[in-house]
Amino acid sequence: MEMISIGLLGLGTVGTGVVKIIENHQDKLMHQVGCPVQIKKVLVKDINKQRAVDINVNLLTTDAEEIINDADIDVVIEVMGGVEETRDYLLKALRNRKHVVTANKDLMALYGSELLTTASENGCDLFYEASVAGGIPILRSLVDGLASDRITKMMGIVNGTTNFILTKMSKQGSAYEEVLKEAQQLGYAEADPTSDVEGLDAARKMAILSTLGFSMKIDLDDVKVKGITSITEEDLGYGKKLGYTMKLIGIAHREGEKVEVSVQPTLLSESHPLASVNDEYNAVYVYGEAVGETMFYGPGAGSLPTATAIVSDLVGVMKNMRLGVNGKSAVTPQYEKILKEPSE
Ligand code: NAP
Ligand code: HSE
Repeated sequence: MEMISIGLLGLGTVGTGVVKIIENHQDKLMHQVGCPVQIKKVLVKDINKQRAVDINVNLLTTDAEEIINDADIDVVIEVMGGVEETRDYLLKALRNRKHVVTANKDLMALYGSELLTTASENGCDLFYEASVAGGIPILRSLVDGLASDRITKMMGIVNGTTNFILTKMSKQGSAYEEVLKEAQQLGYAEADPTSDVEGLDAARKMAILSTLGFSMKIDLDDVKVKGITSITEEDLGYGKKLGYTMKLIGIAHREGEKVEVSVQPTLLSESHPLASVNDEYNAVYVYGEAVGETMFYGPGAGSLPTATAIVSDLVGVMKNMRLGVNGKSAVTPQYEKILKEPSE
């Protein structure tokens, strides 16, 4: 491989981080895969918008076909968000034999099976580490690191925006609307933050986590959801007086073939390990029959942390290209196996 060419769909919070890491970590990328990486085209909505990163304006396009149909583009990185239009772009890209890296949990929770099957049929990788818990490499840990174990319980804070809101409301007495605005300005919230505050974003992540962790296909409809919109400063203050902290917690529990997955605001004793996970940070507790208790912690949202997961997925794709094993590794085949065999 002389050079890897990337088509980037989206140049917002996460896309900007991807450009920065690819530019600033070229030496690391070269060292890992032995060839340079270039961003060839970038899809945006508005070409004239001021960007948070220095980028040659000639790389920008508003026409996705210019990326999807470009024979020289090896990998499409999708960080534009959205579902139906994005699904269409990614299916076309995979059919054109482009590997895909995405941060899109909405898409993966709804159409993951279709996209992963299409990837595999076309000998392509489709990696989506950034879709759950931002910079924490939780999907690979479940699929690879804990591959030999039987996971029976997962519990965690998997939405950075709501954790940021609850932390600021509880510790600084800030008003809900004001902190939500701050989370949006910092790039933690979704374009429409309703999915964050109503718990749907966390539910999508729990569906992905439990599908991979339990090796069973868990649909979004199977996840019971309650968000934080009805939580008041008084509720938080009252809990605090009694030694409790409110967190939006996702819980996935497996007993035999029975799985229950839910997301809801939960009062945790201040001594609970998840009670001290603050701001936009996420943490996922995983219990495996053999390993026992494990806990994964780190930044769950934001530009560079999320982009780290994406560019690390890109490195995975490039390593597979060198070995000629794309479409046959890590997260993808595991998921495929799940689709064919609904339970272990
Ligand atoms: P964002 O800041 O809103 O950026 C979206 C980018 O995509 C913008 O550059 C926008 O163009 C472009 N775009 C959106 N729709 C488009 C369309 N129809 N055609 C062409 N370009 C389009 O979003 P983000 O926060 O970076 O999030 C991107 C994805 O990453 C989402 O799936 C999100 O769930 C996921 N994610 C985000 C985070 C985070 O911390 N933000 C963490 C993990 C995962 P313009 O710039 O011209 O408007
Ligand atoms: N809006 C999401 C969050 C971004 O706040 O967790 C990371 O997936």
